[in-house]
Amino acid sequence: MNPDCGMRRASCSDLEALLVIERGCWEAAHWSEEMWRQVLDPTSQGGATRAVFVAQTTDGVVGFAVVQSAAGESELESVAVKLAERGCGVGGALCRAAIAWAAEQTATEMHLEVRASNATALRMYLALGFVEQGRRRSYYRDPAEDAVVMGQPISTRPS
Ligand SMILES: CC(C)(COP(=O)(O)OP(=O)(O)OC[C@H]1O[C@@H](n2cnc3c(N)ncnc32)[C@H](O)[C@@H]1OP(=O)(O)O)[C@@H](O)C(=O)NCCC(=O)NCCS
Repeated sequence: MNPDCGMRRASCSDLEALLVIERGCWEAAHWSEEMWRQVLDPTSQGGATRAVFVAQTTDGVVGFAVVQSAAGESELESVAVKLAERGCGVGGALCRAAIAWAAEQTATEMHLEVRASNATALRMYLALGFVEQGRRRSYYRDPAEDAVVMGQPISTRPS
């Protein structure tokens, strides 16, 4: 990973950068600006149970991960890295930050859904210790596609 790249929690001032990255990734979950505002606001219902991590270089924010934790379970809701910064460890580092945060929230499991054709993300999640737990038929639209449901226990931190 670029040695200048650091991880931190996102704030409302990152909204613009997050929207640009998300809208540049068709594979990522797409949220409205209003949804993002709620997620970034720790006093809102949406923000209270979530954390958003961003990877930042001297060029600005290059990736993000959104994780939710409640009642002992957590979900990795979205991960995306700018095209030019991929393949350098940023996505994996963001996921590990999300997993560590969920473990701190006393979650004991993490789940996620990923398009069945998204080979890069599937490979990243397998490398992080997630295993396939099932499929949801035609879960995604535009284009219609199955979701692979993955999960892992997180009571012990991943290496
Ligand atoms: C998936 C994504 C976040 C990965 O980010 P990244 O910064 O490239 O990931 P990393 O460099 O940390 O790589 C993590 C692992 O992913 C896999 N990977 C990364 N790039 C890959 C490629 N081009 N081909 C196959 N596997 C790849 C590897 O297993 C890699 O681990 P390794 O380097 O130890 O072999 C990025 O490709 C992305 O933003 N994609 C679009 C959005 C998306 O698909 N989000 C997930 C939706 S569920």
